[in-house]
Amino acid sequence: MIDDDRYFYQPDKGHGLPHDPLNAIVAPRPIGWISTLGEGGVNLAPYSFFNALGYTPPLIGFSSTAPKHTLRNARASGEFVWNLVTFDLAQAMNRTAASFEYGEDELALAGLTAVQSRIVSVPRVAESPVQFECRVTEIVTLRDLNGDPTVNTLVVGQVVGVHIARRLLRDGIFDTFATDTIMRAGGPTAYARLLPQSRFDMLRPA
Ligand SMILES: Cc1cc2nc3c(=O)[nH]c(=O)nc-3n(C[C@H](O)[C@H](O)[C@H](O)COP(=O)(O)O)c2cc1C
Repeated sequence: MIDDDRYFYQPDKGHGLPHDPLNAIVAPRPIGWISTLGEGGVNLAPYSFFNALGYTPPLIGFSSTAPKHTLRNARASGEFVWNLVTFDLAQAMNRTAASFEYGEDELALAGLTAVQSRIVSVPRVAESPVQFECRVTEIVTLRDLNGDPTVNTLVVGQVVGVHIARRLLRDGIFDTFATDTIMRAGGPTAYARLLPQSRFDMLRPA
């Protein structure tokens, strides 16, 4: 049975809509605000094809949709830092999405402060309340159905150091809803804020 109330398309034949809805549907997405260190200096850029991938060991990953500076640095140095993006950092985060010349210090250009990491040599964004220091475990060229390489490259890193602003730990529990984290929503401009009123709770079945 074909349900006529559903718009259906096959992505390889085009979506036929004003904007590709994929990102708007898989939303909101957490933002990987990734700092790396290259020959020229500190690089900082947002990646919303990003997520946590495992607990033991803790793995996180992001996907670069083209060869970009972050990928180049992560490949060369084997290190990156993830910085949490909160609402008050939204404009600065957006500035770091601009195409800068390789080697320009994007952290400084966005008016942010670099702070030394403990384990890796890549600096963290001081203004961000949470950071993960990471060492690259895998860099994978993603393939299509024919097995052909696509333009997308997945960078996976193991979290080797975690920095948490103490104010976000309430009785030792990380208070996600106190962070005002922002996430990428659909279309060219939309974002979402993680606010207390967005919360509901549910127990998993036994
Ligand atoms: C919120 C947001 C999310 C983004 N997510 C991605 C992404 O997942 N993958 C990607 O390749 N580019 C993404 N971009 C674009 C990159 O940030 C942009 O190309 C940037 O210039 C890359 O910087 P770099 O060359 O210094 O790594 C995103 C931009 C914004 C504003």
